[in-house]
Amino acid sequence: MRQGLEELRRKAIQDIQTAKDSEALNQIRVKVLGKKGSLTTILRGMGALAPEERPVIGELANRIREELESALEEQSRVIAEQEQNARLAREEIDIFLPGRKMKIGHPHPLQLVLEEIEEIFLGMGFTIAEGPEIETDYYNFEALNLPKDHPARDMQDSLYITPEVLLRTHTSPVQVRTMEKLWPNPIRIIAPGRVYRRDALDASHSPMFHQVEGLLVDEGITFGDLKGVLTVFAKKLFGEDRQVRFRPSFFPFTEPSAEVDVSCGCSGKGCRICKGAGWLEILGSGSVNPMVLRMSKYDPDKVSGFAFGMGVERIAILKYGINDIRLFYENDARFLAQF
Ligand code: FA5
Ligand code: MG
Repeated sequence: MRQGLEELRRKAIQDIQTAKDSEALNQIRVKVLGKKGSLTTILRGMGALAPEERPVIGELANRIREELESALEEQSRVIAEQEQNARLAREEIDIFLPGRKMKIGHPHPLQLVLEEIEEIFLGMGFTIAEGPEIETDYYNFEALNLPKDHPARDMQDSLYITPEVLLRTHTSPVQVRTMEKLWPNPIRIIAPGRVYRRDALDASHSPMFHQVEGLLVDEGITFGDLKGVLTVFAKKLFGEDRQVRFRPSFFPFTEPSAEVDVSCGCSGKGCRICKGAGWLEILGSGSVNPMVLRMSKYDPDKVSGFAFGMGVERIAILKYGINDIRLFYENDARFLAQF
């Protein structure tokens, strides 16, 4: 019997150590240690032993059971490790690869400047109006005192879709739309948005750019109010050290008209933005032409007003010292991350 047990032990240990997977290991467990297993079967024959031999054989059987159990445990650990290694190799997941860093986005510099412009005018009691980018000839030109054959239409090279419909060349049509909507009430609005022109692309011109229109209509409004509002605006936006100048100009929809220049960051030393002039034009403006008021049913004998239209890119260029308008549209992350 002792021999049978020793033989069983030797064979079982060998089987356990060569088992290839947990399935095979389980089969060995059942075959040897199970209720109908070989160890149990041998022990059933204990009755036939002499009484003094029984405890000796019993002890041996228990030792073998314990030995086999720890061998099973050890092998199942080895197999689990092998199976995990095989799975990792198969899945090819590199668990030591560092995680991907999340990049935080930046507001576009044009958006930042636009928000600042809006903030300043909201603080002066203006509200925000909007109009369509695809506009009719009437709103873009005619209602602004630019009849079909008017030579001043050449001041802005237009992109027409049909003879009556075009991409708006400026935000001034929002003046007309607002007067139609608010008549006969006083008006104090700004209107930001995109505009389109057949301008050649260079360091300070783009065929698509942004403007902020302004319109104020009320009793007793003078050119002095225009100068006051725009000077406060420019000083708030650029700081007290930048200089602002009003230069006589012409627009069919304002009379008198002025363009506003802000001193360039290069102080006139000559840069490609101001082309050495030392000044950069940021807006056109003027007292609303009585013809324009009348076309939108306001009575120029009772009310007057002023209007302006500023170039947002030009303002951002001056404010941040950017040397080329094209940088705004290229979406180079290295440029955008600086704001
Ligand atoms: C106008 O567009 C007038 N509607 C402005 C106006 C409004 C005058 C209300 C009177 C009353 P102008 O074409 O000058 O004017 O354009 C206004 C501003 O837009 C310019 O001062 C400049 O800052 C900017 N701008 C003009 N063309 C371009 C361009 N191609 N690229 C970038 N900015 C431009
Ligand atoms: Mg101009």
